[in-house]
Amino acid sequence: MNVLVTAGPTREPIDPVRYLSNRSSGKMGYALAHAFAHEGHRVLLISGPTSQPLPDHVDYLPVTTAAEMHQAVSRHIGRMDIAIFAAAVADYTPVHAEPQKIKKTGDRLTLELVRTPDILGSARGAFGFTGTLVGFAAETEALEENARKKLASKGCDLVIANDVSKPGIGFDSDRNEVLLVYPDQSVALPAEDKVHLANHLAEAILELAAGKADR
Ligand code: CTP
Repeated sequence: MNVLVTAGPTREPIDPVRYLSNRSSGKMGYALAHAFAHEGHRVLLISGPTSQPLPDHVDYLPVTTAAEMHQAVSRHIGRMDIAIFAAAVADYTPVHAEPQKIKKTGDRLTLELVRTPDILGSARGAFGFTGTLVGFAAETEALEENARKKLASKGCDLVIANDVSKPGIGFDSDRNEVLLVYPDQSVALPAEDKVHLANHLAEAILELAAGKADR
């Protein structure tokens, strides 16, 4: 199968030396890319800046901003059987990046931000993707309810939800505990390290893709 994985944070430039970003390490996305490649699938990893080692036998397309990730996904998603959106994409970006370093002046500074393109939300509509679509949901409350809303509004086959308010799992951590939210059921997986979890997730996603191919 051809598998696209987005991973890592995006960086939205404020000026030549500063950016807006988040705490995503990229671990989950890289572990997923590795799991699929290890099973012999052809993987394209589109990733924001991370310090993760690149898994073997994975095609790699580095990007920096949400807009670049959007463009890279739009170019490649057409030939994919499975698309997994594990990236922590910035939801907002500065209206414009200052060409010169911002000097400190007054006591306050206001940044004006504008929404970034919703890449996962573009998959079914703008990109016309008909393969197996998997999103992630990082929530701090009403985990299942919010994930289920995401599943429906973005046309996903599966949303992998995790509660980022729980210490020691998820963002920035080696371990994760997720709830698999499908249109007709939810399945809680026990907490485990991201490498083992990625193998279990890859299995579940391949099962979904096989079911879709049978239909
Ligand atoms: N995502 C994306 N493009 C964006 C933002 C998010 O592709 N511009 C993807 C992420 O990779 C993830 C999922 O969408 O798979 C997260 O959904 P989203 O609704 O953006 O999550 P939150 O940012 O947590 O949304 P909200 O603010 O609605 O809670």
